[in-house]
Amino acid sequence: MFNKETVLEINHPVIARDLTTLRDKNTNTATFRLALGRISTILAYNALMNISLRTKSVQTPIQETIGYEIEPEIVVVPILRAGLGLVDAITTFVPDARVGHLGMYRDEVTKKPVDYYVNIPNGIENALVLVVDPMLATGGSACDAIAFLKSKGAKEIRFICLISAPEGIQKVQNEHPDVSIITAAVDEKLNDDKYIVPGLGDAGDRIFGTSRNA
Ligand code: PRP
Ligand code: URA
Repeated sequence: MFNKETVLEINHPVIARDLTTLRDKNTNTATFRLALGRISTILAYNALMNISLRTKSVQTPIQETIGYEIEPEIVVVPILRAGLGLVDAITTFVPDARVGHLGMYRDEVTKKPVDYYVNIPNGIENALVLVVDPMLATGGSACDAIAFLKSKGAKEIRFICLISAPEGIQKVQNEHPDVSIITAAVDEKLNDDKYIVPGLGDAGDRIFGTSRNA
């Protein structure tokens, strides 16, 4: 069993309803994207819950008062492809967030991540880095992405995903105990193909309307 202290599983009626839409194999691409957009916005809101603020003065039409601005620089790093589906949720709240990209796919035989693209902004040492990917299955992709970002100097990393498997959470906690996980659901397990059960299938295919078998 994983340690619940570093996992924030968001329970919300909108999430429960929209997860059902995402899980349903008959949901079409347009409806899938709308539900994904709503859930990822709730996740982003929660992932930003305890970030630090800087005070600044603001002049209202009546008088000067104390206001706030977000202190850390925010860098969002989607794990391609499917992670792209969560980027807009972060930039909704932090429009000036910089976006890095990590291209990785899971080899269909070994189930291990294979890197194919990297573009990470400079200066992530002092940023809050939000790694986003809808699925945390074996945890191989998440752990590789986090290790890479740490090797580039990232010190504060949070991982945001829609659906996680206990196996993947455990792996992230073993390898990166400092990284908190914000998720909409902790599912039951992985199947023999290392897909999340019950899950939603292949997230990238469902977001982008592709299918490896098509
Ligand atoms: C999916 C998903 C994660 C990874 C999770 O990507 O988006 O990146 O699998 O599996 P893991 O925890 O076992 O590593 P996929 O390989 O299907 O690539 P895609 O985003 O291009 O569809
Ligand atoms: N990748 C996905 O897209 N879905 C899973 O269930 C596991 C890995």
